[in-house]
Amino acid sequence: MQRTRSLVQIVLFCVTALAVVEPALAVSLTRGPYLGRPSDSAVAVIWNTDTAADSRVDYAAPDGVWHTATSSGVSAHHVVAIEGLPSGAEINYRVFSGGVELAPESSFRAPRDATETRFRFAVIGDTAEGGSVLTQIADRLVESGVDFAVHTGDVVYPTGAQQNYDKTFFLPLARWLLRGPVLPTLGNHDVMTSRGAAYLTNFVVPPNGVTRSSRFYAIRQANALFVCLDVESSSFGADSPQYGWLVRTLAASTATWKFVYFHEPPYSSGHPNHIVRMILCPLFEHFGVDIVFSGHVHLYERTWPIHDFVPSGRGVVYITEGGGGSPLSTFHQEDYTAFVASRFGYTEVQIDGGTLTLTAHDPSGSVFDSLVLDKPQPVPSAGVPIRAGHTRRHLGRR
Ligand SMILES: [Fe+2]
Repeated sequence: MQRTRSLVQIVLFCVTALAVVEPALAVSLTRGPYLGRPSDSAVAVIWNTDTAADSRVDYAAPDGVWHTATSSGVSAHHVVAIEGLPSGAEINYRVFSGGVELAPESSFRAPRDATETRFRFAVIGDTAEGGSVLTQIADRLVESGVDFAVHTGDVVYPTGAQQNYDKTFFLPLARWLLRGPVLPTLGNHDVMTSRGAAYLTNFVVPPNGVTRSSRFYAIRQANALFVCLDVESSSFGADSPQYGWLVRTLAASTATWKFVYFHEPPYSSGHPNHIVRMILCPLFEHFGVDIVFSGHVHLYERTWPIHDFVPSGRGVVYITEGGGGSPLSTFHQEDYTAFVASRFGYTEVQIDGGTLTLTAHDPSGSVFDSLVLDKPQPVPSAGVPIRAGHTRRHLGRR
């Protein structure tokens, strides 16, 4: 009897030990960690594991006090939202599943509240084929310390399928993705598989309050508004939910700077989308949008300010940033073009109160175009028609 009891105890010990040890052995990282922005003030830490497990993030602000955030249930796709971070602070973080720390400690910049007036962001686009260009761009973004990167679409080729995301997006950009979120827009290639299902799963962005999925969304960062539109898989005509949402969003914003981004450029020396131009550009002018960022054409291009469809001393500047690594495009320079170059690279924007400095960089970081905009006048209150107004202090290439 005593021997039987001992055997039972041994078996129970082994089962218990296996139950404790097994998850630690079984869970391993298959993607990430990377970051998302579920709201103006929150950050999402995201990662994938090879098996379903729990999700935990430990994080610390500059005061050095560590906190824990979790998400409920178990999953192989982990999304943990963190709220209440001090504005603009450097946040250290560590990720765990199944009791295992899955990656080295890293850090990101917390979202900046509306009282802040200084920050920097990057614009990348058409990263579709990944490769060494994208790896170089990732290194430059880490070195520059931008808060986040806007992506102008065509994240992966050829059809936006999930199986191509790791090799051509998450791995080449991994060093940057640990540090800052990508705020993406849908490209024509991204919606070819299941209408962009992989994109919608992979990226965490704010809800728009109009449609179930965030194919278009807006986010406030410091004194700037960022509006992402979907011109690939959502209607944008005057009677569409997206158009109405865009009008309400721009009209309600009190931000000093307003940026809009979507995939196909309305003004381009490559392949302009004239439908977008006719329908949406008058709205951008009416509500004082400063710069529109697009991709699709694999080059860098900057227009003169455009008003009423022609280059003017005032109006909206259109930037095409499609140099993320896909084969470069040819072009025939248009009269509204201030600068165009068929080359790889990324764009960086620095906001300092009422002054904006934009620089276009090649993958080594060298600057080959720049623009400075000033806001000499206070921004009109919401709903007042029209231009917030800016002056062009310097336009040039170098
Ligand atoms: Fe495209």
